[in-house]
Amino acid sequence: MRENILVLKDVHKIYGEGTPNEVHALRGVNLQISKGEMVAVMGPSGCGKTTMLNICGGLDSPTSGTIQINGVDISTYSDGQMTTFRRDNIGYVFQLFNLFDYMSALENVMVPLLAQGFSYPEATRRATMILREVGLGDRIYHSPPELSGGQQQRVAISRALVTQPAIILGDEPTGDLDSVTSEDLMDMFKRINTDNRQTLIIVTHSEWIGEQCERIIRLRDGEVVEDC
Ligand SMILES: Nc1ncnc2c1ncn2[C@@H]1O[C@H](COP(=O)(O)OP(=O)(O)OP(=O)(O)O)[C@@H](O)[C@H]1O
Ligand SMILES: [Mg+2]
Repeated sequence: MRENILVLKDVHKIYGEGTPNEVHALRGVNLQISKGEMVAVMGPSGCGKTTMLNICGGLDSPTSGTIQINGVDISTYSDGQMTTFRRDNIGYVFQLFNLFDYMSALENVMVPLLAQGFSYPEATRRATMILREVGLGDRIYHSPPELSGGQQQRVAISRALVTQPAIILGDEPTGDLDSVTSEDLMDMFKRINTDNRQTLIIVTHSEWIGEQCERIIRLRDGEVVEDC
């Protein structure tokens, strides 16, 4: 039997509870994801995909229900425990890259490694290696404003992957990339998924990306309507 890495039980998320603007974004989501799975999350705009992803990664908490990662209920964590947990276990690739504009591409990718305690030379070595892998070997000293949108996205992806986190969460990770580059990115995702058994959960509107994954979870109005 495959071991579950992520289990959501009856997760609800209500934004602005009790106000006239209340939004019931997740309505009782149940989900089990095994270690090493590569899963696409799809569904119309506003159905709750980003909300679910943020909750899976401990960036947001549910209004009710539980999230277990490796058998641990992360809703019991303090803020400090949560931060350490995210740093050591989760890699995020967001729609917006959140790169530091005053740092080079290399330094941006080194940040999570230095936070984990790697020495400066070792962090430099690993960050350089992954930037080469995504085709940015000749751009490592450029800062984000000096890079194209697709190049910035590849820096953001390198930063998410460089620490080899057990779970990688992508919110439209190929959103701004052309089709050739997004094929490269999906190849990279598939490779780390196979080589390192890293678990990937990718929110996408692209049926093509969905087909690249072994499982598609479809949400509608805050509920899982299909899972196969
Ligand atoms: N911080 C917030 N406060 C209030 N409502 C919110 C907040 N974030 C999201 N929502 C609402 O919750 C619902 C789900 O939003 P969510 O961002 O999860 O959708 P999504 O499926 O990711 O959509 P998209 O494909 O457009 O990114 C939407 O109706 C949205 O307006
Ligand atoms: Mg979204």
